[in-house]
Amino acid sequence: MSVTFCRPDLSQATRLFALEPDLLPLFQYNCRQFSSPEDCLSSPEFLDHIRKVMLVIDAAVTNVEDLSSLEEYLASLGRKHRAVGVKLSSFSTVGESLLYMLEKCLGPAFTPATRAAWSQLYRAVVQAMSRGWDSE
Ligand code: HEM
Repeated sequence: MSVTFCRPDLSQATRLFALEPDLLPLFQYNCRQFSSPEDCLSSPEFLDHIRKVMLVIDAAVTNVEDLSSLEEYLASLGRKHRAVGVKLSSFSTVGESLLYMLEKCLGPAFTPATRAAWSQLYRAVVQAMSRGWDSE
């Protein structure tokens, strides 16, 4: 199974800023702050970040039987996020936005069991990333 990048990823990002507007200033490219979520959503660098998130999720799906193989990478990814000022709790907001996007993408196929499976997978990713907050 692989995750396809689809337009509703934009609804994921819109949802992200609706749920947690304070995340907006954390996305800065070339020292430029976005004036609004819409401004951010039209930036190629931010769209690239959405793609990066989905690539990590895709890697987790591919390695779902052995997530420990991603452990080191995810811990270091966590450290990078901590360094740019991301709070661990904000990953839950990303998770909610991800589930929202999947619901939009999959429609009726997004059954409670599917939702539970995605939540479990995302939780495992965040747990591994959170080691970046535990270290040092
Ligand atoms: C909580 C909200 C988040 C914020 C505010 C945030 C912010 C950032 C920022 C500022 C960067 C550096 C610039 C860039 O590459 O765009 C970055 C990089 C990155 N983020 Fe996030 N991020 C968040 C959540 C996530 C999540 C949940 C994932 C994956 C599951 C993720 C995956 C990545 C990846 C793969 C990179 C590139 C790291 C590298 O260059 O080695 N981000 N993020």
